[in-house]
Amino acid sequence: MKKKLLSIILACAMAVSVLTGCSAGGSGGTKVGVAMPTKDLQRWNQDGANMEKQLKEAGYTVDLQYGSNDIATQVSQIENMINSGCKVLVIASIEGDSLGTVLAQAKEKGVKVIAYDRLIMNSDAVTYYATFDNYMVGTKQGEYIEEQLGLKDGKGPFNIELITGDPGDNNARFFFGGAMDVLQKYIDNGQLVVKSGQVKFDEVATQSWSTENAQNRFDAIIAANYADGTQLDAVLASNDSTAMGVTNALVANYEGNHSNWPIITGQDCDVANVKNMLAGKQAMSIFKDTRTLAAKTVEMVDAIMKGKEAPVNDTKTYNNGVITVPSFLCEPVFADVNNYKELLIDSGYYTEDQLK
Ligand code: BGC
Repeated sequence: MKKKLLSIILACAMAVSVLTGCSAGGSGGTKVGVAMPTKDLQRWNQDGANMEKQLKEAGYTVDLQYGSNDIATQVSQIENMINSGCKVLVIASIEGDSLGTVLAQAKEKGVKVIAYDRLIMNSDAVTYYATFDNYMVGTKQGEYIEEQLGLKDGKGPFNIELITGDPGDNNARFFFGGAMDVLQKYIDNGQLVVKSGQVKFDEVATQSWSTENAQNRFDAIIAANYADGTQLDAVLASNDSTAMGVTNALVANYEGNHSNWPIITGQDCDVANVKNMLAGKQAMSIFKDTRTLAAKTVEMVDAIMKGKEAPVNDTKTYNNGVITVPSFLCEPVFADVNNYKELLIDSGYYTEDQLK
């Protein structure tokens, strides 16, 4: 009799699990929505794939969506995730300020939100923020230029131009701010000269972080300031997609009639940019190991599902206008021709063949 009862209970539990899509795994097959901004940039494809893999390994069901850099698309993807029973949302926003309304719906339904890489602004529905130390990304780029040009030793004047990212991405201000906290003093004392005169965030921002927009702006800068053979010594570029636009403009309009190639910074270590690094067309890139970021985010998802607190290492920096979001900041490192092998190949991030 007891046996029969037990098998009836088991059968019922199985039926429920089939109907709700729940498995018997540690996290019960709980559904997690992962919203990524675009497939256009290598890094987000990698982030999406890492998140999906690591969440599945931890026993979760994953709904992974890419927003085509279109805010309305991302909002409707998030709405679908909420309505289809996701318990946690991991969101790399397209524009940090555009998710308030949809995340209010999430909050109402008890769906938790983790801001991934980019802070979500003006919403009290964000539980955690997992990212890299964005300010440190900028300072490392600035320090690289400072060191390569010998600015601390008083060398100069050198010509420099600046380019950063999308104004709707909170990170862009941290990257640019971090770099300028290193470089501004050299602009002020004349060791660095910005011939275009474009130095303010709004003047050097790049809509959608687009390579094409970056190239267009640098085509114009080169034509107006460097076409007469004046040497450009350095370009502070906040990431690889903008650095690529700068490089394209230099290849088209600078390379043929100048003997030097400027120091160009970047971020993400995208394959195409690492190849440029090896070809001497980009000096450095910041390496952000997205596997680590995914692992930290999965820890946060786990903590939320178990009703525990996730490990964070910053509870002060990231105020989104409404709340200060407990954050975990992973450490970025710089990569150049001297250390890329150890960082990128020995660590298994890329194979040697991918960089050929
Ligand atoms: C990320 C960078 C990336 C940029 C463009 C930023 O929010 O932190 O790694 O290069 O977006 O996608």
